[in-house]
Amino acid sequence: MEKTLVLVKPDAFKAGHTGDIIKIYEGAGLRLLAVRMMKMSKEVAAKHYEEHIGRPYYEELESFMTSGPILAMVLAGDNAIAKVRELNGKTDPKEAAEGTIRKLYAASKGENAVHASDSPESAAREIHIFFNETEIFD
Ligand code: PPS
Repeated sequence: MEKTLVLVKPDAFKAGHTGDIIKIYEGAGLRLLAVRMMKMSKEVAAKHYEEHIGRPYYEELESFMTSGPILAMVLAGDNAIAKVRELNGKTDPKEAAEGTIRKLYAASKGENAVHASDSPESAAREIHIFFNETEIFD
């Protein structure tokens, strides 16, 4: 069973889509192992998005991700990383397939409703930014 980290970003959280988004993941057979509601600090944003520091959009990304509450969660299942990224849709909602979370709820490439880990290595790294082992119920 594979694990992945998902963040419901401030735009989707503020718009009240958190429950709908969790329902999409659970409806696809993924299991919720951990959940935390929080406001990201600049330090946590820098850790989580370390490979994006210095890119032209980083300041905008940091400012958006620290702008309001988010929901962090760990999801698990067969092929959870690929499955969640498929359910999320492409980064830019204009390119996301019909029925995906970003097509349904995202406004732009920056404000795009959800984040999900893109590899087993990033999942292992990202999960431990938000949760310790005792908070993951697997
Ligand atoms: S890249 O360039 O391929 O690495 O970018 P991508 O993987 O598509 O996006 C990486 C994350 O950066 C966010 N992003 C942006 N934020 C604000 N403004 C702009 N222009 C922008 N472009 C990309 C994007 O939402 C991705 O966030 P996560 O949380 O990883 O989905």
